[in-house]
Amino acid sequence: MNTAAIWHDLDYAPVSTDEALWLELCQKYAPASDRERTVLDVGAGTGRISIPLAHAGFRVTGIDVDGELLIELARRAMRERTQGGVGVIRADAREWRVRTVFDLIVVPMNTIQMLGPGEQRARFLGHAHAMLATGGKLIVSIMDEDSTDLYDGETDPDAVGEPDRVKVDGVYYESYPIAVRKHPDRFELVRERVTCRSLDGDADSAQLHAVTLWRVSPIRLLRETAETGFRLLESRKAGATDEHAGSLIFAFARRGDPC
Ligand SMILES: C[S@@+](CC[C@H](N)C(=O)[O-])C[C@H]1O[C@@H](n2cnc3c(N)ncnc32)[C@H](O)[C@@H]1O
Repeated sequence: MNTAAIWHDLDYAPVSTDEALWLELCQKYAPASDRERTVLDVGAGTGRISIPLAHAGFRVTGIDVDGELLIELARRAMRERTQGGVGVIRADAREWRVRTVFDLIVVPMNTIQMLGPGEQRARFLGHAHAMLATGGKLIVSIMDEDSTDLYDGETDPDAVGEPDRVKVDGVYYESYPIAVRKHPDRFELVRERVTCRSLDGDADSAQLHAVTLWRVSPIRLLRETAETGFRLLESRKAGATDEHAGSLIFAFARRGDPC
């Protein structure tokens, strides 16, 4: 496994509470039939959602800006011989637009909040609208800020306990939460990534890794999607865990498409 995939899995793989919900919603909005069902997984990473969808028979296209993560996703899909199959595309989801259309476009794990503030998110929503097949659905998650008591500031080292840790080829990879910086329009989540060969010895490397999540409230998402031509079908909650904030998942159809 490449290093980017190891870090990605360390930070995101512990989230399992929403996996079943994504599968349920995808099955509901693109039920099995005698024709192939296609899904675009936006910000697919190493395939936390792509792989289960492919196992469920969907033909998945995973798009991500990070080519290393996609290499790992493609490797897993081959190794697991998924029923539906997975294709990968390295591209920025805000810029990428093709004539191919999909039955479903899914944006799990609050990835839409990584796409930038309003204007950039709107550009992505416009592309998504154009890339849906007639009757296709867009399913998007955002952080559930109301059910998540995110602190603001440096993490208390005494409260951290054991870091997220994995050992690969004799090297320990450890990820420590360092700070959450709350701004009016965004969160910055900062972690320190440390590698070492022995848990008692010195670190071989240590670097800060920051992720920015642009804040978007449910009302704002509904307004922006409505302005793009979507109508809300339903919203669901995926609960918070010790590791991760809860999220709200919204399913949309295009206004004017047959019900
Ligand atoms: C929070 S992770 C989600 C990974 C996976 N979907 C999951 O649910 O575990 C967000 C992913 O989005 C990707 N990403 C961020 N900005 C992107 C962009 N503009 N276009 C495509 N992918 C992007 C990141 O590289 C990362 O793999």
